[in-house]
Parts: sequence; C-alpha cells; structure tokens
Amino acid sequence: MLFFYTRSPTDIQRSYRAQSSLKKFGKDPAWIPIVTFNQSAILTNVLTQGCRLVKYHVECPFTDSGIISTMQMTNMDNDHIPKYSVNGEPVLDNFYCEECLYPELHQDGEVIIKTLYLSVDPALRCRMNESTGVDYIGPWEVGKPVSGFGGVGKVVESRNASYTPGDLVETATGWPWKSYYSVVLDEGSDLRKMDTALLGGRITLPLTVLGLIGLTSYLGVMEKGHINQDGNQTMVVSGAAGACGSLAGQIGRLLGCSRVVGICGSEEKCQFLTRDLSFDAAINYKKGDITEELKKSCPNGVDIYFDNVGGDISDTVISQMNPNSHVILCGQIAVYNKDVPYPPPIPTHTETILQKNNITRERFLVLNYQEKFTEAMQQLAQWVLQGQLKYRETIAEGIEKAGEAFVSMMRGGNIGKQLVHVADP
Ligand SMILES: NC(=O)c1ccc[n+]([C@@H]2O[C@H](COP(=O)([O-])OP(=O)(O)OC[C@H]3O[C@@H](n4cnc5c(N)ncnc54)[C@H](OP(=O)(O)O)[C@@H]3O)[C@@H](O)[C@H]2O)c1
Repeated sequence: MLFFYTRSPTDIQRSYRAQSSLKKFGKDPAWIPIVTFNQSAILTNVLTQGCRLVKYHVECPFTDSGIISTMQMTNMDNDHIPKYSVNGEPVLDNFYCEECLYPELHQDGEVIIKTLYLSVDPALRCRMNESTGVDYIGPWEVGKPVSGFGGVGKVVESRNASYTPGDLVETATGWPWKSYYSVVLDEGSDLRKMDTALLGGRITLPLTVLGLIGLTSYLGVMEKGHINQDGNQTMVVSGAAGACGSLAGQIGRLLGCSRVVGICGSEEKCQFLTRDLSFDAAINYKKGDITEELKKSCPNGVDIYFDNVGGDISDTVISQMNPNSHVILCGQIAVYNKDVPYPPPIPTHTETILQKNNITRERFLVLNYQEKFTEAMQQLAQWVLQGQLKYRETIAEGIEKAGEAFVSMMRGGNIGKQLVHVADP
C-alpha cells in the first residue's frame, strides 16, 4: 500500500529534487518518502505525475529525518497538527518526525555530518516558551527542525580542507535533531574533532562525563560548594540519579565530603545511588516524608546542597541547612514547565532561612567558567580512567524517538544521561 501525506506543493518539488539526487547516486528513484500532513488532492496530483511514494518509516539512505517542533500551534484547526500549551508539561504530540532530503554541499568550507548520538537536556524546555529567558538561545520555531545542544557525529562529505570523511566530531552547544545535516565549519565553529583513541572508543563521553555535564557537576561543586577536606561536611544532591546529579554527588565525595545523600524519584534510582555509586543514603521524594528522611540521613545537618530541581524539595533541604552552608544553584527543573522567570522566586520563609543562617545561594552557569574547562576536563578524565567516577546513560533508539526521550526525561524516565542513538559510525 502507498501512503502519501503532504503539506504543501513545495514538498512535491522536493520529491522531484530527491529523484534527481537518487539518480545521481545510481539509486532507484522510486524510493522517495515524504511524510507531513494528509492532502489527498496533492496525492492525486503526484501519482498522476508518476512518483511512487512510500511510508515514512521505509529505510532510505538518501533521505534525512528531522524531528520538527510543533509548539505554539494552538490556533491551527487541522487535527493532525499537535497542539502545544506553553505553560505545561511537554507531551509527545509536541513533536513529529519528518523525512527530508539528504543535504548537499553548496560551498567551500562546508561538510555533511551524519548524526550518531544526540544529547537530550532539560534546558531545552525553555525553547518551548515564547521567550527562553536567556539571550544566547531563542525559542524553537514551528515547522523547523528542533535544534538541540549536544551531539556526536561523523563527517561523511567534505569541502573543508580541515575535515575528511570519517572524522568524528562533537559539540555541546548546537546540534540539529536531524540524521544528516550540512554546515560550514570556520574558525568560529564550536564543532571539535574527537580523539577516539583517547576516549577508548566510548564516543558518547563528550555528551556525558567528559563534556558540559561533567564540567557542570565538577565546576559547580568546585566554585560554589566550598568543600573543606577536613570539614566533615554533608552534601545533599537533588535530581541525584540524573546526569549532573549522579556525578555531582560522587565529585563531592572525591573532593572531601564525608557524607553524600541523594534525593531522586524512584526506588530503582535510590538503589543505583547507594549500590552503584556509593552514596551514603538516598531518598525517594515520591514516597514518604522527605523532611523526616532528610533528618535521618543527615544527622549533622546539611553543609552543601547541589540543587538541580528547586521547588518544594529545595525548600525542605534548605530548612535543614547549617549556618554558613552553601547552595549550588545548578538548575530548577521542578519549575521548568511553569511560566516563571529563571531563577524562579523562592518562598519568603526560605529566603528568611537563607539570610538568617548566612547560607550562600548563587546562580551557577557552567558557560561562565570556560577558562577552567581544560583543567577541569583533565581531572574528570583522570577520575573516569581510574574508575573513581562512574556514569550511566539511558539511550533511546532512533531519531524518531528523540521527542519521546525528551518528554520521558522531563518526567524522570532516565537514569544518568539521556541520549538518543541515531546511527552507528
Ligand atoms: N547551571 C548549568 O550550567 C547547568 C548545565 C547543565 C544542566 N543544568 C541543570 O541541571 C539540572 C539537571 O540536568 P541534567 O541534564 O542532569 O538532567 P537529569 O537530571 O539527567 O534529568 C532530569 C531529571 O530531573 C528530575 N525531575 C524532573 N521533574 C522533577 C520535579 N518536578 N521535581 C524533582 N525532580 C524532577 C527527574 O528525575 P527524578 O526521577 O529524580 O524526578 C529527571 O530524571 C537541570 O535543572 C538542568 O537545567 C544546569
């Protein structure tokens, strides 16, 4: 059976371009998947012009998949277009997967990159708002491929003297959710070649512990934690079984904390923290009374709090912090689905505790510490190589699962770093 869904006549033109591109590579031009929205009039038009169209999930090496953000389409009356509510949880219907054309090289300096892994990050949630709240990234545009932060890929075609096909590349600061894309690489580009030998073949490391996640955890603790090796300090981490949290707790211990306690959202995660990462205790905030559990787990109070979540959990932790202690304000995921500024306002009684007990709570943004990245990376790499710093990944399979992976991660479906595996090298 043939399926054809299209959105506009432009798609028809694209199908003809695809045909010629396939012919160029000596491939059967009949394989032209296009999936958008159903308009049977255009279907008739195309079929009479001789194109054979296939279901979107048919494998075709000369097409390109992009996950398209569909937010802010609440006024559209087409039932096929998912609706998006800005002030709420992301849902699966906010995303759809579309097959596009394989990119072409148009100019010198350009390369075509095949995506191998994508990073899925909570901060992407702010791109679903009309205003992201920061000036360095804008909101996702309806109908345009989603732009993520981190990715790992392979150069497959090149008109750039510095890159040859086969080079593996990565960045943490901008990667489209596409299976192939073309990009001009110049001096200002953030893309870096990967040394796979150095990584021991573990090509996802730049998206996890040897990338922004590791740097955030390490520099957050170093810069804002005020760890004193002989201080007999207790560190509490929220979002503790996630990418940053699971590293931050281990780093706290490596740098000298005598007790490390994690707060997370399931029994499985608690076990991961205490059994696999040697946290002293773990509290499932979805079960029982966190106030009581914290008192039991932190008999000497809390000296350092690595805060990934904000909200009620953080108010509870702060209420048990010692005088002159420190909050590392890493993230506030509990409020990302609400339409509030970042960092969100905290309740008056929490603010009073902070002031009365002289507790520091400074915003931490890893990108403000770039001059410390090299040194930090050396320390992280050493710990990983020596087996002192463990990391875990939750991997969704296939680019069409990227939206699902994001929604799942925002609801706590991940342990360690949430990634999407798109292709093998
Ligand atoms: N400051 C920086 O420079 C910087 C850089 C990177 C990341 N971050 C921040 O660091 C935090 C962690 O990021 P990550 O990439 O490591 O993500 P992550 O922790 O791997 O994944 C998000 C986790 O948040 C938890 N969560 C979701 N909703 C929650 C809620 N309402 N209350 C409590 N926990 C909730 C879930 O775990 P549970 O099952 O435990 O609920 C989920 O697994 C985020 O806030 C992120 O924005 C900051």
